[in-house]
Amino acid sequence: MKGYTPPVSSEPAVDSAMREALALSLNGRGGAFPNPMVGAVVLGNGDGGSLVVGRGWHGCCGGPHAEAVALDEAGELARGATLVVTLEPCGHTGRTDPCVERIISSGISRVVAAMADPDPRMDGRGFEALRAGGVEVEVGLMAEEAARLNRVYLHYKRTGRSFLHLKLAATLDGRIAARDGSSRWITSGPARARAGSMRAEAGAVLVGAGTVLTDDPSLLPPEPQSPAYCRLVAAGRRPLPAGAKVFDRRARTVVAHPGESRPYWVPEGVDTLPLPEGPPGLDLHALLEGCASLGVGEVLCEGGAALATSLVSEGLVDRLSFFTAPALLGGEGLPVFGPLGIGSISEALEIEDARIEILGCDVLVEGGIVHRPG
Ligand SMILES: NC(=O)c1ccc[n+]([C@@H]2O[C@H](COP(=O)([O-])OP(=O)(O)OC[C@H]3O[C@@H](n4cnc5c(N)ncnc54)[C@H](OP(=O)(O)O)[C@@H]3O)[C@@H](O)[C@H]2O)c1
Repeated sequence: MKGYTPPVSSEPAVDSAMREALALSLNGRGGAFPNPMVGAVVLGNGDGGSLVVGRGWHGCCGGPHAEAVALDEAGELARGATLVVTLEPCGHTGRTDPCVERIISSGISRVVAAMADPDPRMDGRGFEALRAGGVEVEVGLMAEEAARLNRVYLHYKRTGRSFLHLKLAATLDGRIAARDGSSRWITSGPARARAGSMRAEAGAVLVGAGTVLTDDPSLLPPEPQSPAYCRLVAAGRRPLPAGAKVFDRRARTVVAHPGESRPYWVPEGVDTLPLPEGPPGLDLHALLEGCASLGVGEVLCEGGAALATSLVSEGLVDRLSFFTAPALLGGEGLPVFGPLGIGSISEALEIEDARIEILGCDVLVEGGIVHRPG
């Protein structure tokens, strides 16, 4: 049939094993970075090759790889079995032994992988080594889904930066705060609950100094809070009060600041990230590189307007979640964005793959921002 691309696998057991491996990979969210999230399932020879005899995932950087965990569980049942895995198995020695050697020596006869690993040490070499070791290899099953789940790792490998998710809430007339700076609450309960789960999912939240000064947010995620959860403040020239809620001891806080020396007003116990300065404030590329080096894979930026404008202008927003509430604040209110250098409708920044959701009486639009070259 013209235009029809058959799925890589048409074996229900392999498809279902890949779905399970993708779900298992999510156990590494927040812990695996800067490594990828990986899930693996071993399909033994029993029941016509549909019996799961091993399962594994990569839970934390430095910990055992998904393939090794699944093969340990399978033991002797790995001989002649199929290994279904969400990413190309590694062929180099890092903190753990290469998975490729382990797979070959365990007697696995076939590997079905969702996608290649873009790490320059890999990039297909793992598959080549498996084939050279006599293992049959198929690549591409549920590749899109695997890339979507591993977007933080893939983005980091491409850019060296943390993945930036920008979340904002505005009124119908595009205001994120009233004239007096107040913005609580623009959206209703269901939208705020959704925003809370975005914090937990990202594992780190970022706001500008203006938001700390105006709103004094605690920036905590809903319970249970991950011990690695991190609050980041993009500071500038204005000192922030020592009693700000973001400086309480309920989670790690990092103040990114211009220049080398630690600002005098940062309380003890709060970490700092010295950064170079650009014209509107901190160099935000350097900020996101710094976040990655702190072990933060994804950052949820919650504003305010000045920081959001800088991030969009710099082309640093990898995902946008924009809540619109059925209210008006008029021209006195604070606009979501300052100037973005757009002179004509043909230059509008479009949202690609936009997904729309109704939460209570608010509307959430999510997608990526398309930046035209030039
Ligand atoms: N509705 C919403 O979703 C939402 C979310 C958050 C906040 N808000 C509202 O937004 C208002 C605060 O927004 P805001 O624009 O005043 O402040 P902001 O964006 O939170 O913070 C801006 C400040 O961050 C510092 N900064 C460091 N590097 C920067 C860079 N590269 N680009 C921009 N800023 C950088 C600067 O501090 P210095 O000035 O010290 O140099 C700058 O003035 C409040 O009224 C708050 O209620 C609304």
